[in-house]
Amino acid sequence: MAQIIGSVTTSHVPAIGRAIAKNLQGDPYWKPFFDGFPPVHRWLAEKKPDVIVAFYNDHGLNFFLDKMPTFAVGAAAEYRNADEGWGIPELPPVKGEQKLAWHIIDKVIERDFDLVTCQEMVIDHALSLPLALLWPDQKWPVRIVPVCINTVQFPLPSAKRCYALGEAVGDAIRSWQGNERVLIMGTGGLSHQLDGERAGFINKDFDLKFMESLVADPRWATQYSIHELVEKTGTQGVELVMWLAARGALGNGPAKRVHQNYHIPISNTASGLMVLEPAAG
Ligand code: DHB
Ligand code: FE
Repeated sequence: MAQIIGSVTTSHVPAIGRAIAKNLQGDPYWKPFFDGFPPVHRWLAEKKPDVIVAFYNDHGLNFFLDKMPTFAVGAAAEYRNADEGWGIPELPPVKGEQKLAWHIIDKVIERDFDLVTCQEMVIDHALSLPLALLWPDQKWPVRIVPVCINTVQFPLPSAKRCYALGEAVGDAIRSWQGNERVLIMGTGGLSHQLDGERAGFINKDFDLKFMESLVADPRWATQYSIHELVEKTGTQGVELVMWLAARGALGNGPAKRVHQNYHIPISNTASGLMVLEPAAG
């Protein structure tokens, strides 16, 4: 049986790619952010995942505004970073885990989620940069299954629905006959707003409450409508639904907190990082 070893949830910001390319990890601006990752590297070295199931949001790269699936799962052989990338060096493509992807698709559609299935898919900073943060040598030791949630164009799925999607994906992984060690990833958030009157908006209070809730009260944020979450976290802060989906995949009992980091700001974003293990794990 496949085993979920835990989750890593992290912010994704394009400027991280530039900081990596220019070796700025020790720069005073970047250090508090990059210092969050060595404990994650040690945890990964111990846990040795071979597959990542990653909840993330595409930013108009693979899906543009003319065709915007609410939930989409990748079942491609390979995923190539195709973000324009601010001139940074190419990241190596990452292999897809197609068999598990189709199992997840079957099981999640059986649970009444109407998924879009993608046999070709390019990825952007929301998926490629978290991989580069987890494996700085960029020799990916994992195959991936991307699960994309629309947080770009309204109407967006509710927090409650995203949590339920995560639960269904988690159950599907646990019912897979293979013996893969699966890491759940969720990327996006925490509070940030890139546009409009509230550009630059950050809500530290809410972010810290949210991170805390994921340990023992994981449905806490599902009490809020998606519009309330935009109000509390910003138009792009609503990407935190990826963290909820990732947490849903771990199961409903309390989780074990392995590590967390929170730093304001990275670009316009309150950056969060958290590693959780399922309580029974
Ligand atoms: C920033 C944050 C994001 O989540 C994103 O997708 C793009 C930019 C930022 O803070 O610059
Ligand atoms: Fe984003």
